[in-house]
Amino acid sequence: MAYGLSEFCVDCRTALSADAGPAGREEVRAALERLIVDEGFLAQQFGDQAADGMVEIFRDPEMGFVVLAYNMDAPRVSPPHDHGRSWAAYGQVAAHTDMTVWQRGDDAREAGHAKLTVAKQYRLNPGQAGLYQPGDIHSIDYPAGARFVRITGTDMAAETRQIFDPDSDSVRVVEHVGTGEKS
Ligand SMILES: [Fe+2]
Repeated sequence: MAYGLSEFCVDCRTALSADAGPAGREEVRAALERLIVDEGFLAQQFGDQAADGMVEIFRDPEMGFVVLAYNMDAPRVSPPHDHGRSWAAYGQVAAHTDMTVWQRGDDAREAGHAKLTVAKQYRLNPGQAGLYQPGDIHSIDYPAGARFVRITGTDMAAETRQIFDPDSDSVRVVEHVGTGEKS
């Protein structure tokens, strides 16, 4: 049975209305794994006519979650980052994304300082979706031609978040990332 963007967004609303915590978000992640293998959805959002780069494909006016499609011609390695107060789920459509989940070891009391260690690394292949809770720190690494869907609980362009540099044990706070935000 076809499972397109509108069905996915209805299921997100239902799941998050019933449980706005981790259980509801896990339902969103599972629904995302249905969406990213739907042929109609893929043809519509990731077909030959799809624009390169990041495109917002849905924004829920009441609950505030935002769905983006990424058609990435160039490879990218992001720095470790959180999503502010938001959760995020990433669903792979084409190629892959190597995910690194980081653990923060310091007490976050010293401004600009953060000690990160790698907690987990795994690859998202097409049809797989990963979930990141509010405050989780991750980095992403994908090759040219990677295509994926990201859903966040709120508009990340307006969210204050942290970007980390594990080589220098530093962190910076980014107030507004704007529409160029890619991770
Ligand atoms: Fe992210």
